[in-house]
Amino acid sequence: MCGIVAAVAQRDVAPILIEGLKALEYRGYDSAGLAVLGANGIRRVRAKGKVREMESLYLADPFPGGTGIAHTRWATHGVPSEINAHPQAAGRVAVVHNGIIENHVTLRSELQARGRVFTSETDTEVIAHLIDDLIGQGHGLREAVLAAARRLEGAYAIAVISQSEPDRVVGARRGAPLVIGLGIGENFLGSDVQALIKVTNRVIYLEEDDIAEISREAATTYTLDGRPAHRAIHQSELTADAVERGEYRHYMQKEIFEQPRAVADTLEGRIGANGVLPNIFGSDGDRLLERACGLHIVACGTSYHAGLVAKIWIEQLARLPVSVEVASEYRYRDVVVPAATLFVAVSQSGETADTLAALRESRRRGYLGSLALCNVPESSLVREADLKLMTRAGPEIGVASTKAFTTQLTAFALLALQLGHMHGLDGERYRALCAELMHLPRAIESALALEPAIETMAARLVHRQHALFLGRGTQYAVAMEGALKLKEISYIHAEAYPAAELKHGPLALVDENMPVIAVAPNNELLDKLQSNLQEVRARGGELYVIADRGATLEHEDAARTLRLDAGGSFIAPAVFTVPLQLLAYHVAVLRGTDVDQPRNLAKSVTVE
Ligand code: M6R
Repeated sequence: MCGIVAAVAQRDVAPILIEGLKALEYRGYDSAGLAVLGANGIRRVRAKGKVREMESLYLADPFPGGTGIAHTRWATHGVPSEINAHPQAAGRVAVVHNGIIENHVTLRSELQARGRVFTSETDTEVIAHLIDDLIGQGHGLREAVLAAARRLEGAYAIAVISQSEPDRVVGARRGAPLVIGLGIGENFLGSDVQALIKVTNRVIYLEEDDIAEISREAATTYTLDGRPAHRAIHQSELTADAVERGEYRHYMQKEIFEQPRAVADTLEGRIGANGVLPNIFGSDGDRLLERACGLHIVACGTSYHAGLVAKIWIEQLARLPVSVEVASEYRYRDVVVPAATLFVAVSQSGETADTLAALRESRRRGYLGSLALCNVPESSLVREADLKLMTRAGPEIGVASTKAFTTQLTAFALLALQLGHMHGLDGERYRALCAELMHLPRAIESALALEPAIETMAARLVHRQHALFLGRGTQYAVAMEGALKLKEISYIHAEAYPAAELKHGPLALVDENMPVIAVAPNNELLDKLQSNLQEVRARGGELYVIADRGATLEHEDAARTLRLDAGGSFIAPAVFTVPLQLLAYHVAVLRGTDVDQPRNLAKSVTVE
């Protein structure tokens, strides 16, 4: 989604801003722009499309200046265009903004009534006019941003410059992240640390409703009532290398191959020879888990699929009832919360607007407590939940989630085992499952060895318009994840079904033009799955099966069957996911799509 970079320095800031925007490209966007405040006032350059297109315009006519703001925009109000790109300007002010201003129509009418003329369709332009208006009434820049922030409804992270105070940038956040980067004789703002990592790793995370003022010498934070607020300085562990693509063609491919390490890191220090270690979810964690009589898991997209697998694990191992719901639905529903239910929010980014809002809503609904499973330690979700378990996948740049998913499954497996152990799971079975989980990094490694065979399979699917994915039990969620991967990066329409559900409707779609991809682990549902596959074969469907090496398949078509060692049915969902990720990746590469930044999508969905 949108990205922000801002800088105040002795040197010219435009190159810093452009580098920062390039580091934010992974978030997904459709236009880019920057504004620099120099000796002759504010100059802007904006362009629809990629940062490099905006950069070429800048390089054709560069302008100096030590104060500036920049932005990548993912369109919400108004089409992607130069006019709607940020920075938006009004009078002496320029603004970049992530989020959505919900009362922009009211504010726009009010400002128009005072003679203000608008040039874009964006909600952001309202902020620029509002602040310029307040400066016109005699406010300093910081006071004007404070006063404007009090009038804004909705979510925002903003950075603002004004010709009235050329040596500073003022930022504000509510519902969207913003960090300060501390340099030597220069300071920065960014929507995430990645934007700043080439210039500094000393950062301050703004809290909800904070205002930040940066100049060359100082960075100060204030609360919404204008009082100075102390915020801790953190040394970010992120390195510029961690966000490099290395030898891989795409970030997504790199991240798929990082999974054995990411899963091993997620297990490290959390499970040992005797089982899950105490209090890995927080100092009060085990006490809360012991008291839990049920769980509500809430998430979006891929993280939601991880929750679906977790439901089956937890119900099976701990015999506790679990419901899983998409966050955007959960937050607006009058949910029944049985006594002693634990709320679990899952998110790679920890900034997904719906998941975050659901967590906040859960506080009013009488839960036992909340647990966040998340990949970004400083995210809002982690800061606001009672308990947390970090997934340690490392930065995920590709818009399509891969290592985030398998590390979420790893975290959920730890949770299911811990709950099982506390709620009556047989000791021998518990230890066997712990050992199986510790084998997961190696099982994923062996699944990665399928890549050449998957490339061949991808070549057969590349010209298809549709595909069906089938699975049963936990593998139904894996099939959903496989279908989501294929559609989001290859733009092939794909749907997943529990295999037995096919005959209740979707079987009508099956003919020789419909590829059907089935995941077939060697478990108690294999025989049932085989019957469902026969139904596809009988209709001439083009069936591809990813099967456990130990599974005996009837009428096996060797050319369309891939075998792997799942390493046990508990960890099988994570292992079977890997070939489906690779399949989506190679189909997308063959179709020539923008694999890491698929059209219309954003990495972190910070709007509702
Ligand atoms: O950061 P989150 O895990 O909260 O993101 C949730 C979804 O937006 C995300 O998983 C999305 O579905 C991915 N693009 C899927 O690959």
